[in-house]
Amino acid sequence: RVIRVIIAIDGPAAAGKGTLARRLAREFNFAYLDTGSLYRAVGLSLLRAGVDPADEDAAVAASADLAPALLSDPALRDEATGGAASVVAAMPMVRSNLLEFQRNFAQHPPDDKAGAVLDGRDVGTVVCPDAPVKLFVTASPEERARRRTDELLAKGQAVDFGEILADVKARDARDSGRKDAPLKPAEDALLLDTTNLDIDAVFLRAKALVQKALASQ
Ligand code: CDP
Ligand code: CDP
Repeated sequence: RVIRVIIAIDGPAAAGKGTLARRLAREFNFAYLDTGSLYRAVGLSLLRAGVDPADEDAAVAASADLAPALLSDPALRDEATGGAASVVAAMPMVRSNLLEFQRNFAQHPPDDKAGAVLDGRDVGTVVCPDAPVKLFVTASPEERARRRTDELLAKGQAVDFGEILADVKARDARDSGRKDAPLKPAEDALLLDTTNLDIDAVFLRAKALVQKALASQ
């Protein structure tokens, strides 16, 4: 039986999960899944339909039948979409509808890759609790809001730091406070506080951990 390596990366909004996950996937030639994009796609489909994201019946229906085109929609990355995503992500039926796709991706990565990197909130705790490598990437809310602000400015969008910081904190509270799969580090996750760490330093630490896990397989 082929044992595939699963790298689980969790943490709060704008901590640098995606940047790290993509870089690790490239380094080791693993497949990459941004699990947040699934919740964002559900949120976006409701916003597009003019439906309140808190409408549970609509959210459950959208999560059961996700239009693939939503996953490559530029509005997927908008802060408004992130907010709607965190509202639908608190609904257990939405989470269970999205679970099988994520587990299947981790266990049978596309192109028969030797491993998969998944990032999100509950990859190490719920989606892949047996993953041999678990990272919990975090940073202070102010640093995360600064990173998101810089990112939006670079895209030419008008942004207000105070508003972004409020969004980040509201999303943290919703994600950590929900009953089902709340944001929290798995017991066996390595905690990486990146408030004062640049992308290269984070990558080097994570890479060393993955190499250790690969060597012990
Ligand atoms: O996936 P997540 O929302 O956790 O964060 P991201 O999209 O990977 O990173 C958010 C922004 O922070 C990006 O523009 C990164 O380049 C930046 N970043 C950083 O400045 N320093 C780090 N140590 C990690 C990310
Ligand atoms: O990139 P960023 O960290 O801002 O957000 P994201 O990873 O795209 O996730 C958007 C929202 O989806 C989060 O605020 C969570 O509420 C939800 N989510 C989740 O509940 N579980 C996951 N595994 C991934 C995302």
